[in-house]
Amino acid sequence: MDDLLDRLRTSIGADHVLTEDADVAAYVVDWTGTRAGRALAVVRPGSTEEVAAVVAACAGAGVPVVPQGGNTGLVGGGVPDASGNQVVLSLGRMRRVREVDPVAGTVTVDAGVVLADVQAAAEKVDRLFPMSLGSEGSCTIGGNLSTNAGGTAVLRYGMTRELVLGLEVVLPDGRVWDGLRGLRKDNTGYDLTQLFVGAEGTLGVITGAVLRLFPATPRHATAWVAVSSVDAAVSLLGLAQQHAGVHLSTFEIANRQAIDLVLAHLPGASDPLGEPSDWYVLVELAGSASDDGLDETLESLLGEAVEAGCATDAALAGSPSQRSALWALREGISEAQKVEGATLKHDVTLPIARLAEWADAMGPRLQEVCAGVRLVTYGHVGDGNLHYNLNAPLTDGGHSDDDALRAAAADLTTAIYDSVAREAGSISAEHGLGRTKAAAAASYKSDVEVDLMRAVKQALDPAGLMNPGVLVPPAPGASA
Ligand code: FAD
Ligand code: MLT
Ligand code: ZN
Repeated sequence: MDDLLDRLRTSIGADHVLTEDADVAAYVVDWTGTRAGRALAVVRPGSTEEVAAVVAACAGAGVPVVPQGGNTGLVGGGVPDASGNQVVLSLGRMRRVREVDPVAGTVTVDAGVVLADVQAAAEKVDRLFPMSLGSEGSCTIGGNLSTNAGGTAVLRYGMTRELVLGLEVVLPDGRVWDGLRGLRKDNTGYDLTQLFVGAEGTLGVITGAVLRLFPATPRHATAWVAVSSVDAAVSLLGLAQQHAGVHLSTFEIANRQAIDLVLAHLPGASDPLGEPSDWYVLVELAGSASDDGLDETLESLLGEAVEAGCATDAALAGSPSQRSALWALREGISEAQKVEGATLKHDVTLPIARLAEWADAMGPRLQEVCAGVRLVTYGHVGDGNLHYNLNAPLTDGGHSDDDALRAAAADLTTAIYDSVAREAGSISAEHGLGRTKAAAAASYKSDVEVDLMRAVKQALDPAGLMNPGVLVPPAPGASA
């Protein structure tokens, strides 16, 4: 292995090949703090050519590569396993916005550019890059593409795969595929770009991307709405679509438990409504500078919602700072859950029409598995996507009983996944599979689907060195 490390130092400079425990520490543990591995080295190439040199050297030495962006992934796909034999390839130095073309509506970036920086580059030319996640200050475009990230703008603009036109990828043997084309129309064969989107680093390393831009939406009307149930939230969604049409940009749900955690742990957070409610919806309409009537549209929508019984109260943002405060209640939930104690995440989608009945039935069933488990339910209800997350029961002294949650974790997750599968839903709406869910996802897919996934992996990465153990479970009897 010393030969490989020497070769890597020669290719990208000794300063960018990290091997000391203190230097690699932040790269081998995930955001949740529950997935920790070991690395042979962490390498930080500064260009596509350097990424290619690293991947070729690792391929030559038979050493697995784990691509990593901002390390905000929630399924353990961007951190190495416990073997200490894998090289973590961080894109953190590749942060160049290569080109912005407002007329074509494209921005071309290095894969290591942080999502918030892409949003800012678009804003500078009066355009919008709509993807928005709670982690946008640290996640990278390469990670967003590789997980096909969702977030709070999917309702209007779609998942990451709908926001990309072309890619540059270093293949598992070190060759570079230059597919950095910004064409809207290109029917010249298999869609290779889309093959790498959502591949979680198992087919190659994304080094650059051409992304789509949209007209800017500087005007917003935002409300925090109390609703009595998931069913009421789904009815409100129907009304919002009717009233606001294309202007409806956000429709996020949270239960009271989630908001209680934010109020307890997020400095400065306050409840915008006087009376507590079991559920809340964050609704936002967005429009161009000439869209004058958004506030009126939102007010009339809410008036009708109260009359129809699908909303009980609402607070409208009267200023940008009030808007930010409402958004912070929603975006602070992941962090608040983590501060509270042990957490179990379930990122599920169901047909929207089935969501309410499913959620109502699931709660009591989980109490039978783990008495007192706290349901922290929130997410992108407009996309049929709930984060059906759990926090540990409280002890008699009011502390998070993390051991109780860990002891029941497997049974809780199986109860949820089995039930989602019966509803023809998905056990990963937007976070991907990583190491955490690869085996479970395969167990709910048909043999045909798993065979096709393995065939794609085998065709592009026959040596199985790109992020092994992630997304595609090894075939029975295989060593990797
Ligand atoms: P990493 O965590 O570094 O990696 C994720 C996966 O992509 C790994 O498998 C890794 O190997 C692979 N990868 C990374 N870069 C590359 C590359 N250049 N080439 C090939 N493979 C690569 N996700 C959502 O979808 N919606 C949300 O609303 C959302 N909210 C979040 C809120 C918080 C507070 C946090 C912490 C996370 C949230 N996430 C959300 C999850 C996470 O931010 C996304 O999955 C994000 O896309 C990961 O980007 P990253 O750069 O951090 O990738
Ligand atoms: C979010 O939407 O806030 C995250 O995807 C949910 C999570 O952290 O589980
Ligand atoms: Zn989410």
